[in-house]
Amino acid sequence: MSEPLRAEPASDLTYFAFAASAAAPASLATSAAAIVASDLPEVLAGRYLIERLLGVGGMGAVYRARDLLREQFGDPEPYIALKTLSDEFAEYPDAHTLLYTEFALTARLSHRHVVRLFGFDVDAVSQRAFITLELLKGPTLDQVLSERPEGLTWDELREIAVPLIEALAYSHSRGVIHGDIKPSNVILAEDGLRLFDYGLGQPLEGGLKNLPRLSRNRFKAWTTRYAAPELLDGAEPSEASDVYALGCLLYEMASGSPPFRRLNAKQAKAMGLDKELVRPQNLACGWFTLRSALAFDAAQRKASVTQLLDIFRRPAPSRLQRWFGRAHG
Ligand SMILES: Nc1ncnc2c1ncn2[C@@H]1O[C@H](COP(=O)(O)OP(=O)(O)O)[C@@H](O)[C@H]1O
Ligand SMILES: [Mg+2]
Repeated sequence: MSEPLRAEPASDLTYFAFAASAAAPASLATSAAAIVASDLPEVLAGRYLIERLLGVGGMGAVYRARDLLREQFGDPEPYIALKTLSDEFAEYPDAHTLLYTEFALTARLSHRHVVRLFGFDVDAVSQRAFITLELLKGPTLDQVLSERPEGLTWDELREIAVPLIEALAYSHSRGVIHGDIKPSNVILAEDGLRLFDYGLGQPLEGGLKNLPRLSRNRFKAWTTRYAAPELLDGAEPSEASDVYALGCLLYEMASGSPPFRRLNAKQAKAMGLDKELVRPQNLACGWFTLRSALAFDAAQRKASVTQLLDIFRRPAPSRLQRWFGRAHG
């Protein structure tokens, strides 16, 4: 009987495509951490033709691309989104690991309100790692919010909040912390909302054990306005830190402004701004729960994702109930 295949120790793993030439096994020693990406070629992995830039975040650049293989088979919709590291970010030695983590986390998820992932690949010539995703057509939530300085109406708020919170609750149920809930990571696509960008995500305690864990503080990639105070102090993201970010986003949708102006949680905490929080005018109910989601102290942050979901699933309160809620908000 032949010897069973043994996995290499994780630290020695090097995908062949990271070698300068994919056909040269002698180059396998090239470490994934030592990749230096060059300019983005027009066609990646002999298959994905870059058409145009769709958006840039703190870490990645996302392009619309044509999958030439699908096209060859007559697929009328061969268009995809291709995410690679933005040029300056690609300089971090282990940034590709972050992109792979995003792939591995998103690959665990299959939900109508979470972006659909196709694959992770490396272009052998340019040494560019990239992930391919469904191409979403529609505005990001931050584009929508910038046009609505007064906030969204209760009905609009529900239409966005319910699928968004469902996507997050589902991610948590699959052991995936999003880690970067904010308006630019949500797209209102033609066929419904999608949550995406698990680039700063983490597996829940005990899950996906072999994935490398990278400290977000080493990357300047994230927007601190939605980050819970404990993250700013270097803690690992958790369900509670996702709840805080979700709370900030829901508050902003309901009022038109973030809960603590444009300050980060530590600045807001130092100024005692939590004591000045007022109920957003368009929030018809659930203020008690939302305020709890915004607690600076993670131990006091009792609101769960499910409780937040319940607020927006409830039928709209009557005018009298609304008045009563306001008087007691
Ligand atoms: N699947 C997609 N389809 C269309 N546009 C996308 C898609 N994914 C991302 N984008 C656009 O690219 C931007 C950056 O993508 P994101 O994954 O958030 O990168 P980063 O990790 O750098 O924040 C988004 O805000 C959005 O405008
Ligand atoms: Mg993003």
